[in-house]
Amino acid sequence: MDYTNLPKWNALHQMIPELPVEQANKPSSTPNSVVITRRSPQFRFNRSEKVWLNDPVISHFFNALSVFIPISERVVMEVARQEIDDINDPKLRYEVLALIRQEGAHARWHRHTNTILAKRYPAIRLFTFFQSKFMQLLKRLLPATSIPAAFEYFTGTLAATYTENRGLICGRKRNELIKFLDWHALEELEHQSVCLDLYRAKYPNHKLLLPILLVTLWMPLTLVAVFGTQLYFMLKDGLIWKAANLRLFAFWTMRITMELIRELPGYCRSGAAHWSNNKHATYQLAKCHFQEHS
Ligand SMILES: [Fe+2]
Ligand SMILES: [Fe+2]
Repeated sequence: MDYTNLPKWNALHQMIPELPVEQANKPSSTPNSVVITRRSPQFRFNRSEKVWLNDPVISHFFNALSVFIPISERVVMEVARQEIDDINDPKLRYEVLALIRQEGAHARWHRHTNTILAKRYPAIRLFTFFQSKFMQLLKRLLPATSIPAAFEYFTGTLAATYTENRGLICGRKRNELIKFLDWHALEELEHQSVCLDLYRAKYPNHKLLLPILLVTLWMPLTLVAVFGTQLYFMLKDGLIWKAANLRLFAFWTMRITMELIRELPGYCRSGAAHWSNNKHATYQLAKCHFQEHS
């Protein structure tokens, strides 16, 4: 693919706080065999059932995740647009542009599913209000590119966990929301190291900042927000009063937390190390899952 002569994106946003700015000159670490592709699947969510995965508890985990995705992906796009003109490597510039397009489509469809969710669970409007305020504050306080790098660590890890355990998570169910999840998981795996590359290009000497932020800020914050919202959904549906549901919730929180901890060193080392053989296999598997729907 020819990565040259790609359009530049004008700086759209306000100045970030004064921080050391290094020249963005680190190349992309996404393997050449992976081309970040814009896909445009269509979904009809209105017919989707309430328990759309194998179990209502796990359905609510992915519902809770969906609540926080549009604002997070909007921040990813804002920062990527802000930085794209400073990227020297044409391959990385192409990938950032492709990531913006993918995230735009994801956020649009998540807003759609969240509108349906908000009718059943109105408190999520309050959750997203606080998320929006908090993200704006963090954008002013932190190096801007560290935010997408942190966010993509979560989406990449969760996409891999979903893809590798899809049989258990979905069971025999097939519906529009699973098709949506397969699509989003595939594209998150595809662009999993792009925001890390963007961060490393901007701050090549900040080796410790990202792992410190992930462990002390992003991981506790994200886990409390997502698992707390999942519990709220379970409470509203009366699921919380069954011991079996609480056991599954406890197991799932442990499982997701362990996956995030396990992935942390690999993600923070380097983009190239991040794309291990296992990651290639998971990416191929995600492609197969998505193609099942076509
Ligand atoms: Fe996304
Ligand atoms: Fe993403």
